Amino acid sequence: MLEVRDLRVTFGPRRKPFVAVDGVSLTVGANETVGLVGESGSGKTTVARSIVGLVRPASGSITYDGRAVPAGTSRPGELQRAIQMVFQDPRSSLNPWMTVASIIGEAWRTHPSAASDLDRLLADVGLDSSVAGQRASQLSGGQCQRVSLARALAVKPRLLVCDEAVSALDVSVQAQILRLLDDLRRRHNLSMLFISHDLGVVHQIADRIAVMRRGVLVEEGPATDVLGAPQHEYTQSLLDAALELNS
Ligand SMILES: Nc1ncnc2c1ncn2[C@@H]1O[C@H](COP(=O)(O)OP(=O)(O)O)[C@@H](O)[C@H]1O
Ligand SMILES: [Mg+2]
Repeated sequence: MLEVRDLRVTFGPRRKPFVAVDGVSLTVGANETVGLVGESGSGKTTVARSIVGLVRPASGSITYDGRAVPAGTSRPGELQRAIQMVFQDPRSSLNPWMTVASIIGEAWRTHPSAASDLDRLLADVGLDSSVAGQRASQLSGGQCQRVSLARALAVKPRLLVCDEAVSALDVSVQAQILRLLDDLRRRHNLSMLFISHDLGVVHQIADRIAVMRRGVLVEEGPATDVLGAPQHEYTQSLLDAALELNS
């Protein structure tokens, strides 16, 4: 459904560019969760931002349902709606002074055809309808991330790009949000690109795993293969680090 081909993203001066993403190709199929993992600075967020149009790639192509996704923000509304991003820090991605109802209302103003019942949307992400009148600043980190998810789901997307969506949360809240994401994917037939520096987290949710290092995809395959028999020593080192943390 989503196909990224030979993506290359550079920053800095044209004469001496820094290559943040160097020829990355990956696909996310219908109802599939692909985990994108790699240490900080490996280029994961830049891939995510390219997919949602916040970054303009130097070269490569992105197609969605066989249609070319134009670079940058000049994409048709239907495409903007279909691919939604959930960010790492729910506190800074939500305006603290806005009520939950107005945050969701804003999404519905942008995409009126998606507008529906607020209480049902909140229930869908495990929030009580009483939260609607509260400001983001009054909510816990976990509640904020549920609101971010509700805002993304409000426009009835087909693909969620979750960039470190649980990384700022306590481990127990992390587990709740991961379970919720998996439930939502099933209930709404979503596809997901789930990005995290933490292989232990990716392991809990991904069907397939892609491993990035210094802008390059070094390994990609079914989660059981990548975790059970990593082909690249970098994947092995991420795995060792995750196991060490768990024990
Ligand atoms: N807007 C930008 N301008 C300059 N360099 C950037 C920009 N965005 C990211 N980078 C650099 O690109 C590299 C990859 O960053 P990023 O995609 O955020 O990695 P990750 O999400 O894996 O931590 C890093 O070295 C980062 O400093
Ligand atoms: Mg990042």
